[in-house]
Amino acid sequence: MDKNVKIQELKKKVLSRELPEHIAITMDGNGRWAKKRFLPRTVGHKEGVNALKRIVEVCGDIKLKYLTVFAFSTENWKRPEDEVNYLLKLLREFLKSELNTLHKNRVKINIWGDTSVFSDIIQEELQYAVEKTRDNDKLILNLALNYGGKADIIKACKELYHSIAKGEINIDDIDEELFSKSLYSKGQPDPNILIRTGGDYRISNFLLYQSAYTELWFSDVYWPSFDEELLYQAILDYNNRDRRFGGV
Ligand code: FPP
Repeated sequence: MDKNVKIQELKKKVLSRELPEHIAITMDGNGRWAKKRFLPRTVGHKEGVNALKRIVEVCGDIKLKYLTVFAFSTENWKRPEDEVNYLLKLLREFLKSELNTLHKNRVKINIWGDTSVFSDIIQEELQYAVEKTRDNDKLILNLALNYGGKADIIKACKELYHSIAKGEINIDDIDEELFSKSLYSKGQPDPNILIRTGGDYRISNFLLYQSAYTELWFSDVYWPSFDEELLYQAILDYNNRDRRFGGV
């Protein structure tokens, strides 16, 4: 079957069923995508950004509410300095080239992670993107940057400790609902699906708290090759899963 016809059929199926509210993606395999083509890793990352642009557009088109992508982890600092700098350069280029389009498409950008470690200019650009898109109501795009699930939980514990110390809350007030409000994901539903590309079967310190009942969906495809068709397949597989949340 022609690829476009197949995609349109999958899309129709996706739209005829209940959509997940929130999809999270670990965009892995940029380096291996490049290596397979005898290209430098940087080319893989650049193509990774193009894949991200495509997927954001598709998510907006099918009216997904929340998309969270792991763009830079707390562990990514271990990479060679040149690669880290290149990833940050791509982030800046992404914001520069995409912000107007994202805004026009009513995409709201959030940043999850400790951005205080980034240069002043990057922090300003991130803040500008968040401010500019803050009232948008279509797709909420959470960019996880210098994000780690463990760091997210520790940040929440510290915030709650400060609230107790200031007498704003009591220790017994802390429950799952209150705890969630101190995470980067505050106010948002937990992801229904976590997609990981690149053939590894790990969480890798992504949404540790938020993915307690998330359906995991793995693909061997490297992130730069991830496309609309695979996204629809992930959603349709999710629709077929039996989610019991600990019940029967
Ligand atoms: C993993 O590929 C991917 C990352 C380290 C980060 C993902 C980043 C992008 C898609 C581009 C930057 C994002 C924005 C928002 C500008 P890898 O290098 O670990 O691949 P490998 O496992 O094959 O080496």
